[in-house]
Amino acid sequence: MDGPSENIRLLFEPRGVAVVGASANPAKIGFQVVNNLRAGGYQGRIFPVNPRGGEILGLAVYRSLLDIDGPVDIACLVIPAGRVLEVVADCAQAGVKNLVVITSGFAEIGNAELEKRIVAAAAAHGMRVLGPNIFGIYSSNCRMNATFGPKDIKPGQVAIITQSGAIGVAMIGKTATENIGLSAIVSVGNTSDIDEADLLEYLIEDQTTKIILMYIEGVKDGQRLIQVLNKATREKPVIVIKAGRSQRGAVAVASHTGSLAGADAIFDDIMRQCGVLRAESIQEALDWSMFLSAVPQPKGENAVIVTNGGGMGVLATDACEKFGVELYADIDTLDRVFSGFVPAFGSTKNPIDLTGGATVEDYAAVIQASLEQEEFHSILALFCETAGLDEESMMRVIEEKFLASLTIKPIVFILFGGEKMERCAQELARKKIPVFTEVVSAVSALGALYRGFHHRVSYQTMPAQPLPAGSTGSGPVAEDDFDDGVVEEIIRGAQADGRSFLLAPEASALMQAANIPMPRSRVAKSLAEAEAFAEEIGYPVVMKIVSKDILHKSDAGGVALDLLDRTEVLTAYQAIEHNCRVYNNKARIEGIEVCQMVRPGTETIIGAQRNKVFGPVLMFGLGGIYVEVMKDVSFRSLPVNPRQAFEMVSEIKSFPLLMGVRGEAQKDIPQIIAIMGKISKLILRCQEITDVEVNPLMVYRRGEGCLAVDARILISKPGR
Ligand code: COA
Repeated sequence: MDGPSENIRLLFEPRGVAVVGASANPAKIGFQVVNNLRAGGYQGRIFPVNPRGGEILGLAVYRSLLDIDGPVDIACLVIPAGRVLEVVADCAQAGVKNLVVITSGFAEIGNAELEKRIVAAAAAHGMRVLGPNIFGIYSSNCRMNATFGPKDIKPGQVAIITQSGAIGVAMIGKTATENIGLSAIVSVGNTSDIDEADLLEYLIEDQTTKIILMYIEGVKDGQRLIQVLNKATREKPVIVIKAGRSQRGAVAVASHTGSLAGADAIFDDIMRQCGVLRAESIQEALDWSMFLSAVPQPKGENAVIVTNGGGMGVLATDACEKFGVELYADIDTLDRVFSGFVPAFGSTKNPIDLTGGATVEDYAAVIQASLEQEEFHSILALFCETAGLDEESMMRVIEEKFLASLTIKPIVFILFGGEKMERCAQELARKKIPVFTEVVSAVSALGALYRGFHHRVSYQTMPAQPLPAGSTGSGPVAEDDFDDGVVEEIIRGAQADGRSFLLAPEASALMQAANIPMPRSRVAKSLAEAEAFAEEIGYPVVMKIVSKDILHKSDAGGVALDLLDRTEVLTAYQAIEHNCRVYNNKARIEGIEVCQMVRPGTETIIGAQRNKVFGPVLMFGLGGIYVEVMKDVSFRSLPVNPRQAFEMVSEIKSFPLLMGVRGEAQKDIPQIIAIMGKISKLILRCQEITDVEVNPLMVYRRGEGCLAVDARILISKPGR
């Protein structure tokens, strides 16, 4: 990844744009694109192309692309779908670098074949294809509005990439009314060739772009997107709005990991892993864009809330908790800084409540004191409308304090009230001063700023590096204790047998080869062996049928738990044999597994799978039989580093169970992280493994380790 390719750079900074299908008819898209290019003041040359020739908007029309006498870096195609392919050869001959195919009527209506042929023909001549089925591209760097959307696009610092044409066009209007200027807006449509990752490569380096906003409905090449997003979020905030939180996209698969990995659950967690800020709505995304492009980065965690209304302070405090904004808590310092401004019936504790009698001057003074205090890293300045409030002085104070804050710390202004406050907010927004009129959205924006801050800080302290299999999260890294030879042999054996899953003893052996602790167990082929193995393992023991033909052992009566002595083992052996014969008299029984009875602990699940979109992913969560009901899991794309593994553990809702509730001891989290490393290694090293799942992974007190009670491993069929 060495920055954008030359083609992509020229897509945003073309020297010349040809409009193939340019029309003199103002009702046609071919006219609107030429009109927008002209009206936007495009700095390169515009070449309308139409076999009729003539003039459009004073520009000479070329009868053929081959007649053009200057560099054409973009050919914008606005001709019917059936004619696009035949034009590609002319484009190649004219030295075109990028085709911007606005035309609809391809993969989106099932005509994928034609789309593929166009991309292949273009690729054969080193050309890239944006679209088809798009409204075009705008780039402020050369004032190019090659769209058939609005004529006036407000230039600025936010770049938008959108998979939806309609939402994109609407966002041009919406950003303008919100006083958000655009550095670029690109419609990707069917992403037949150029995709989000290609465009991000340019936008990461583009000095004009301060914020990247993406509207996504689906991802094709998730692994590449992850790579580029990881790079992007280290440079500038990336905000994503993704449609489709519903479970519809989830496919039925043979493991909990698979079925819990609903398209959205994985997307959400992986975006967080990449440091991407996922907004719930377009409005939230725009609020964040406006705020993040206007304020400096915080230097630390501590926020202060200053307000003239106690209730608003409480609402802001609640919102801070929800959005992960830390409030400064040293009471002595707060009292020292603010006691001179706060009346006796107010409060100097954070939130700092000036009470309803506060004047604009009092408000200005507390903000100034907050700006000057180095321990305060960000400020939430709330003001509720008061009788006789002078709008002009309020706006002056906000402007003055905002400008003063720019080199020091982020400040969020919230003006709550009626028309006066709305007017102030709008007036200030015109001056690019972000002012919110509602508490929750304001704190949500500050929370987004902090999420980006946390991501950058944690990346600096621990850059992405694989989680070593022997890592305990913080301690020394153990030696590579992974037996590749044994793993391969087990998989080859199962494949030779035509299976895409491992039998329980194979899965246990594989876990052992990966040095993942499992309960002691042996497969007995006779009563005498069962007795001997039980003695060797130590009571109590569990016994389970081993048969390729019986997958659901309990249903077949093939499991006996908590066997305390020799007599119970012998009775269970006979009962299991009998039950399984009755259940399926054709079943091939390989033996009966005698296994250490596992003492109770906290049941967790660790899974890894090869995801179609994102490649290898790791899952951690609350395990046991209710795993799919509780859905208390987290995902990451692999590899993960120890910090990310810990984040996965700590972000599940049941994390307090692992930390120890009601006086219980803390559980062995370092061992969980170590086993996550081993499972990651299995799927990363062994291409044949498609799914590994340990459920439950019984977790004991810290220092007492974990036991993988059951492991399920799916493999690819040989030759796949
Ligand atoms: N080279 C140059 N010009 C050509 C041409 C060629 N090979 N083939 C046709 N043309 C000219 C036509 O003669 C016509 O010019 P005219 O107005 O002077 O007659 C012009 O190109 C447009 O062709 P026309 O057949 O009139 O098509 P159209 O304008 O009705 O529709 C599209 C063309 C591309 C707009 C239409 O097919 C389409 O896809 N619309 C949907 C676009 C869309 O919604 N995109 C997604 C947005 S999110």
